Amino acid sequence: MDFRGRVLLAPLTKGGNLPFRRLCLAHGCTTTMGEMAYAYQVVRRSKSELALLRKHAEETCFGAQIAANRAGDAIAAGLAAVERGASWVDLNCGCPIHDIVRRGMGAVLLQRPAHLHKLVAEMVKGIPVPVTVKIRLGWSEDDQNASETAKAIEEAGAAAVTVHGRTREQRYSRAADWDSIARIASERSIPVIGNGDLLTWYETKQRWEKSGVASVMIGRGALIKPWIFREIAEQRAFEPTAEQRLGIYLDLAKKMKEHFRDDEKGRERAMRFLPWHFEFFCRYRPLSAERWVESSRSHPLMQTRFPDDEEVSVLERLLRDARPEVHQRLAALLWEAPDEAAATAAATALAAEIPPVSGEAGEVATAHG
Ligand SMILES: Cc1cc2nc3c(=O)[nH]c(=O)nc-3n(C[C@H](O)[C@H](O)[C@H](O)COP(=O)(O)O)c2cc1C
Repeated sequence: MDFRGRVLLAPLTKGGNLPFRRLCLAHGCTTTMGEMAYAYQVVRRSKSELALLRKHAEETCFGAQIAANRAGDAIAAGLAAVERGASWVDLNCGCPIHDIVRRGMGAVLLQRPAHLHKLVAEMVKGIPVPVTVKIRLGWSEDDQNASETAKAIEEAGAAAVTVHGRTREQRYSRAADWDSIARIASERSIPVIGNGDLLTWYETKQRWEKSGVASVMIGRGALIKPWIFREIAEQRAFEPTAEQRLGIYLDLAKKMKEHFRDDEKGRERAMRFLPWHFEFFCRYRPLSAERWVESSRSHPLMQTRFPDDEEVSVLERLLRDARPEVHQRLAALLWEAPDEAAATAAATALAAEIPPVSGEAGEVATAHG
């Protein structure tokens, strides 16, 4: 497992469900990661937690992510992931959520580098695939110790370290600090994977080259446009029309049917995910390099509020709609539609039926790692 030269799909709780990861694979992604699983729940054989370690046969390079604080749990969960085909195991040291932090997991490990070193060293000894760690820059702006943490992680024998360029307290409020990511990359000899605010192929290219990281990781950029992997591979934008995007979302619904089953129960389970995805899909805007490359250098486009074009089709307007009730309706019609033509017809009818309020693009403020 070589962690150089890769574009990884980030671990994404809820978003990184198996059907969505397959959608990313269909659009050029080659390296996927699972949703974070609590190691102590895996040890208790929790069905839902074990399900998070499962991968699809199409995922040939899959990393399972766990949250742990004790080595015994971490190793047991790591072994369960390896049994299910994980190529590597990642330890979450970035999750800012209170419930996780208060249990001594996630970002709180950043405050305990000696404990972290021991934990990772034990994992490396006990898990027969590479172990990686995902960190943030530190706990708060005044407490940025990522250099020290990354050093401890390397010395513990980890195969790579991912750096999300923000602190725990910043959540998503600030732009990711790629200068700090670059500094850490220059200090370490294990591969450093840079993460934060990559929304276009040209931002990715520029930040990747300038920072000197070994690889990059994409989170919200993939949730907004799963085809970003192909854009990065081909170094050009793919600006799908509303009809084409609807086809891509229909493909996700199809993959959900395959995963959850095409029956009432399967529908019920899929509806916990499919409408949720539209919270990200609705933020898609074409961001041509000609128009945006300059401003993206000073401020990442993920943080930008884009002016909404006046002249868009009814279908485009519908897909940009940020209202949860519209997302529910879109998800339902995709579940019912037998093919793209039927989906387009149903979506066009829906667009005519509901009052047109367009969604706001820009900052995607969510919690997590
Ligand atoms: C919906 C959502 C769920 C996330 N879940 C996780 C997670 O389970 N584990 C983790 O390490 N990070 C998680 N993150 C953080 C991302 O992996 C990533 O570090 C962060 O979003 C910054 O990358 P981006 O700017 O490309 O989105 C999550 C982020 C989002 C938006």
